[in-house]
Amino acid sequence: MTNNLKNDTFLRALLREPVDYTPVWMMRQAGRYLPEYRETRAKAGDFMSLCMNPERACEVTLQPLERFAFDAAILFSDILTIPDAMGLGLYFSEGEGPKFRKPIMTAADVEKLPVPDPVIDLGYVIDAVSLIRKNLHGRVPLIGFSGSPWTLATYMVEGGSSKSFQKVKSMMYEKPKLMHTMLDKLAHSVAAYLNAQIEAGAQAVMLFDTWGGMLSSEDYHEFSLNYARQVRQLLNTDSVDQQIPTVLFTKGGGLWLEAMANTGYDALGLDWQTDIKLARERVGDKVALQGNMDPIALYAEPAVVREKVGVILEKYGHGTGHVFNLGHGILPDVNRDHVRAMVNAVHELSPQYHL
Ligand code: CP3
Repeated sequence: MTNNLKNDTFLRALLREPVDYTPVWMMRQAGRYLPEYRETRAKAGDFMSLCMNPERACEVTLQPLERFAFDAAILFSDILTIPDAMGLGLYFSEGEGPKFRKPIMTAADVEKLPVPDPVIDLGYVIDAVSLIRKNLHGRVPLIGFSGSPWTLATYMVEGGSSKSFQKVKSMMYEKPKLMHTMLDKLAHSVAAYLNAQIEAGAQAVMLFDTWGGMLSSEDYHEFSLNYARQVRQLLNTDSVDQQIPTVLFTKGGGLWLEAMANTGYDALGLDWQTDIKLARERVGDKVALQGNMDPIALYAEPAVVREKVGVILEKYGHGTGHVFNLGHGILPDVNRDHVRAMVNAVHELSPQYHL
């Protein structure tokens, strides 16, 4: 691999090339469990102002790497930047999560949705990617990301987070064509956005399909996986000086791993409910696997965290193709010593599986 990286273990594992140990990073590794993150966020004013300021976004992206020996950095941003750039008016209300001022309600709302030009409409993200890449000095690779078309659509129609997904599913059942029009626009927007991140320096990209698992099997294939596949087909992953590995994460997607492994992504993210040993047997040599410790296990004392890490490493077994991660994002009040215990355990216990 020709990328001047001091540590390319993460990229090699995603491409199922030999590695000396299992690489590790953590979803939401830059976030509220770090006091230095909370300090930078307070200076920025609020979460979106932090995302929109490339210098500060760069600063918080690098913060977890100063504390822990993570093998990758992930762009600090949010998946909801695309709907915001489409004109929906994103804001975060304290304690209630993300909200849109102008959610999608009618066919006319869908018809007039633009496909944003990432460089013009999401320039703050693209600038953050370039700046982070520069400031990483090749320490570890930088991951770019986007929400999946389906997951973005859930927020756009619900107007924010949801438990039942009643609005978006009603649109899907009553007006499937309209839903497909929206998902098609989103797939093109997501692909353009990820391609711009790749051009600006992202060395791997990940698609977060956080709510694919809320669908029935048929609906998952038709409304979520089809568009994840379309995004993959539109990505320029060979256009620069290295192959850009791609990761598809569907939370609650454990039932559909075989289908997910056939969409062209290099790796699948696994939630903690999925058995990583069985998952590996099911996907074979098609894809690498990323995951999958229960994020709540980080509340247990370091000795227990280490034991849980050991179980996952053993379940995956020998050979490359495993990136250690949580099955979903870390929660804000986790003890940082427990995060250190996880990272060190992965690095200390995994070399035996790569002899
Ligand atoms: O992993 C990382 O460190 C990269 C940064 C990242 C964030 N959000 C930062 C963030 C990434 C990759 C995301 C993706 C994201 N955002 C997803 C998909 C991943 C997942 O969790 O399944 C989703 C569904 C969102 C939408 C979103 N943004 C939610 C539901 C929330 C939580 C709101 C809350 O109050 O807890 C956010 C906010 C958010 N995004 C935070 C961070 C660090 C917390 C904001 C804060 O500082 O208050």
